[in-house]
Amino acid sequence: MTEAAESVEVVPLAESLGAEIRGVDLARVAGAHTMQSIKDALNRYSVLVFRGQHIAQQRQVDFAAQFGPLRTPPIYKYGVEGHHPGLHMVSNVLHNDRQIGLADAGVFWHSDAAYMERPVMYTFLYAVEVPQTDGRSLGDTCFASTAAAYDALTPEMKRRIDGLRAVQSLRHKYEKKIAAGVLKRGELTKEQQEKAPDRSQPMVRTHPVTGRKSLFISEGHTCGIVGIPDIEAKTLLSELCAFSTQPKFVYRHQWKVGDFVLWDNATTLHKATFDYKLPQRRLLYRCTVEGGPVF
Ligand code: SIN
Repeated sequence: MTEAAESVEVVPLAESLGAEIRGVDLARVAGAHTMQSIKDALNRYSVLVFRGQHIAQQRQVDFAAQFGPLRTPPIYKYGVEGHHPGLHMVSNVLHNDRQIGLADAGVFWHSDAAYMERPVMYTFLYAVEVPQTDGRSLGDTCFASTAAAYDALTPEMKRRIDGLRAVQSLRHKYEKKIAAGVLKRGELTKEQQEKAPDRSQPMVRTHPVTGRKSLFISEGHTCGIVGIPDIEAKTLLSELCAFSTQPKFVYRHQWKVGDFVLWDNATTLHKATFDYKLPQRRLLYRCTVEGGPVF
């Protein structure tokens, strides 16, 4: 493959996060300068959108691997044969009455795999089929800046949560999905639960590259605060979750086929919009890169 000589244009998309990257063809291997421009933009804007891409699955994996070690999630069954087990489908499509991909990803605001010792750092999502109605795309993905939200907290609130640890829980995520009647990936197995036990993580995390602080809690994964009575903890968590997902901290991505979106889970939450159903089809390829322990 040749190395592309590209001039990268970064166009901000919303008040607190999100930028479109223009002038980059992800099907070609990017040079060091282009890669550095992309990483700089990611550190600044947290969510990057590349429109009109035509990439093979292996290229998605290779591109992602330039950001860190690819992660293999505990659920392998939606993988893509012949590729790294971390590449999987997010989809509502059925084949022989069976789902071909994860159909319930992103029901609640969350940061990927927050309950792991080394949560996901970056997520890479590539749109192959996008549901439509009357020429309008459905199935948007919303992103919220937990860094902008942290910055906007009052000094009193910053003092109150400083040093606290929140309980991040895969079990809680399943329970919430079951309660809402939206679980579509099968029950949590004992083996999966053993791989991902409830884990306390700092409520305020520091970005390993930029040093920026952000809130690290979510409606989808966080079920308590260490050392704080349950009712008080739940009240504080709901207040902070609502605060961090206000419209001024959110970028809503309306997908087009060929969109490639990359985001930083250390400074964002995300949530999918379930406003479509078969025969409207949605298919995206996803892979993720692991980060270090949270501090
Ligand atoms: C996810 O939570 O990663 C899925 C996002 C989406 O399908 O829009």
